[in-house]
Amino acid sequence: MSISKQYIENSKKRFFSDPKSIDEIKRIREEAAKDPETFWSKEASNLRWFKKWDKVLEWNKPFAKWFVGGKINASYNTLDVQIDNKKAYIWIGEDGSRREITYNELYNEVNSLANGLKDLGIKKGDRVSIYLPMIPELPIAMLACARIGAIHSVIFSGFSVDALIDRINDAESKAVITADGGYRRGKIIRLRDTLEKALEKCRSVEHTIIHKRIGMNIDLKKNEYLWQDIARKGFCEAEEMESESPLFILYTSGTTGKPKGIVHDTGGYLTLADASTRWIFDINDDDVYWCTADIGWVTGHTYVVYGPLLQHATILMYEGAPDYPEPDVWWDIIEKNRVSILYTTPTALRMFMKLGDDLITKHDLSSLRLLGSVGEPINPDVWLWYEHVIGKDKIPIVDTWWQTETGAALLSPLPGIRLVPLKPGSSTYPLPTIDAAILDEEGREVKPNTKGYLVIRKPWPGMLLTIWKDDEKYKQVYWSKFEYYYTGDYAMIDEDGYFWILGRADDVLKVAGHRLGTMEIESALVSYNAVAEAAVSSKPHDIKGESIVAFVVLKTGYSKDGVIDALKEHIKNTVGAIAIPDEIFIVDKLPKTRSGKIMRRLLKAIVSEKQIGDVTTLEDEASVSEIINAYEELKRAL
Ligand code: WT7
Repeated sequence: MSISKQYIENSKKRFFSDPKSIDEIKRIREEAAKDPETFWSKEASNLRWFKKWDKVLEWNKPFAKWFVGGKINASYNTLDVQIDNKKAYIWIGEDGSRREITYNELYNEVNSLANGLKDLGIKKGDRVSIYLPMIPELPIAMLACARIGAIHSVIFSGFSVDALIDRINDAESKAVITADGGYRRGKIIRLRDTLEKALEKCRSVEHTIIHKRIGMNIDLKKNEYLWQDIARKGFCEAEEMESESPLFILYTSGTTGKPKGIVHDTGGYLTLADASTRWIFDINDDDVYWCTADIGWVTGHTYVVYGPLLQHATILMYEGAPDYPEPDVWWDIIEKNRVSILYTTPTALRMFMKLGDDLITKHDLSSLRLLGSVGEPINPDVWLWYEHVIGKDKIPIVDTWWQTETGAALLSPLPGIRLVPLKPGSSTYPLPTIDAAILDEEGREVKPNTKGYLVIRKPWPGMLLTIWKDDEKYKQVYWSKFEYYYTGDYAMIDEDGYFWILGRADDVLKVAGHRLGTMEIESALVSYNAVAEAAVSSKPHDIKGESIVAFVVLKTGYSKDGVIDALKEHIKNTVGAIAIPDEIFIVDKLPKTRSGKIMRRLLKAIVSEKQIGDVTTLEDEASVSEIINAYEELKRAL
């Protein structure tokens, strides 16, 4: 019996779900599918609108406008309508320090910064880049932008100079909000210094606002201000935004050298963030909810900021790495703060599995009642371990599949509606109205249990509006392979209709859950003076899911000595530490087809230690003998 069949058999005898719920969920989905617009207009009505929409959806394929004519504000919905003394954030610093911020305080902080931004002349539609570590000022800055209608573009604080330049310039940001520094494993990361280097190449930025996190002495330059100096106490009117106006841009990696600015609207995004958080996490008033994602990625946007704030949840935020300062710091935090919902990544779980169960079992985790996973496929054995060691076989696990582009989770168990029996490694079913299908290369639906490409056939609220300033690229990347939205993922539907995500079908890497493009890393490698050519691939890694492997050809006259270390340092200083390859091979030439294309799949097969027989069928553009020659040659060189 397959692991999934066996699990569903067992789960019938077990705790949290009744197999009848499959029929109930199916019925709810069928009902919603008959009239998605009515379905979503009911969901949108849970939010506060300054003006109700005239039309639920304007679908001018592939461009969707949701709740057209409606006026709404994200900061108003998360704050003004629910000011009280409930804790919004419990923040825990790497050094154990603690800050608690009530909804009332959050509201005041957001208003003060919003006033300050306005005083600087930041207006509706202006872009503001935010380069902050995991501290409460990050959500405050996002909400302050949202309040005045400025579009925020958060840049992960682990990114470095070149990554900043690309993102700030593409968005043409008028201001950047940063900190003097942040902490990472006890070390200070000097954010403002890195930003300053980047700004030498960014013309659009008129103001830099610096929050003093570390308390360094800052010698302010022209157009640099301290957060505390510009923040002005008092009420700041929330701008009435058209539903389809952008709330934020978030850059993500694709198959080209440059990151894409994924643009999200306001009304549709908030509707999906709100509904999905309610259905998936079902947060009650006394829950302490912890999504471990960094706000620099989309998971943090939707499930550390907008989604849970809309539920009036108490949200835990931890500044540090999962195993710093102590390897059991997470479990200590859960015990001490009575965390009831934990949403994390397979990479973190695999790391803890390796560290040993004692770290976990020595803590009282009885407050937990729901577990979640996100960002990459979760292996069934990790899922079962999560259920057993952390959940004590009593707590359901929601595996949520989604992407920066989808705005929020689209495939997930929905305990807030009906919890279906779970299968380890499956994200179960699509949310109501989400028309997910698996297609073959020709665009035909595949049979059950067959691998194919995951597409979404109908628009949904929260879907990306476009790629910033590049409608053509938006069409080409997502809407040209099939007549539907193409996710870039392989997936399969089993005989029970459960979805299984099988990894990326393109050159996007998922390293420790972080999304990186092979081309992006290649161009960073080539920007190093000794490098003539580079090709990046990945191989399976037992903790990080995938690890980066790079092949480089040096320019003539450059010696190999010290190059590998220098290249790693170079990647760290340009893209950021997350993009440093685990292995770099210096080779004389890269395997290419006659037309000059790098044989990427051959590289992948070689680093994954596949045999030559598995390799010859991989490249469509090369002959078998070419592949064998290239394979042999490269093997000899490694
Ligand atoms: C890619 C999107 C989900 C928000 C954070 C990542 C992979 C994501 C799952 C999952 C298997 C998953 C996909 C997707 N992915 N969640 N539950 N099971 N794979 O957003 O950085 O835009 O990455 O992450 O490959 O396409 P992202």
